[in-house]
Amino acid sequence: MKILIFPDAQTASLETARRIMTRVATMPKAVLGLATGGTMEPVYTALRSAFAQHPMAFSGITTFNLDEYIGLHPDHPQSYHCYMKKHLFAALQLPVARTHLPRGDAPDPDAESARYEDAILQAGGIDLQLLGLGANGHIGFNEPTSSLTSRTRIKTLTRSTVAANARFFSEDERVPDTAITMGIGTILDAKQILLLATGAAKKDAVAKMIEGPLSAACPASALQLHRHATILVDEAAATDLKLRVYYETVHPSGADK
Ligand code: F6R
Repeated sequence: MKILIFPDAQTASLETARRIMTRVATMPKAVLGLATGGTMEPVYTALRSAFAQHPMAFSGITTFNLDEYIGLHPDHPQSYHCYMKKHLFAALQLPVARTHLPRGDAPDPDAESARYEDAILQAGGIDLQLLGLGANGHIGFNEPTSSLTSRTRIKTLTRSTVAANARFFSEDERVPDTAITMGIGTILDAKQILLLATGAAKKDAVAKMIEGPLSAACPASALQLHRHATILVDEAAATDLKLRVYYETVHPSGADK
């Protein structure tokens, strides 16, 4: 694991976007795994600016999102389909056929999960997977106790995740409590992983992911098994790291040596 600590969330987010751009520059037909959530918004803002300067940069990419709420139609404003359209896909003018998310409104979510897993395989697998981190250590919607070898499937969200996601829904709306998510095994199959975590609310999960035992109690700790996982955090999220001095010695100010 490569641990990069940045002074603030904006710097960490810009560096995440820069790394995605670099991957796409060296591999124009890259298959990108994408995440949603508040943490990703500044990353996607930076990618939209990059597109404004290099309109052809993203023309060959294919994308697969991590997850989608069960029961939400792609046109529902809080669906991850809509989130991606709003924050990235529309601005990058990506053809719909090359942007993939699980269908939350599929009549048979189990069959939809299997279809999604197969579509990733058919595309040749994910070259670069972008991840956020839940305050409880989830990646995608793989909540604590998820199998570390799981594949795309239905997951029930914890109460704390439903509560955290409620901020995106209006008061009278029911917040979904199930989702289709790539599994931890699916995520670990990606050739390269970038996880971005910012803010003090993530400090406990960051410390467990990096320095805790490999355990289904902290799904993100599975990244310890990956050979090309880079973790980008800001000061606030790095607070509880015991080996922080070591990480900063190896990568001063987040520099990649
Ligand atoms: C969303 C996803 C989740 C989020 C995580 C952090 O596609 O996969 O794992 O990355 O819940 O969400 P924020 O960034 O809103 O704190």
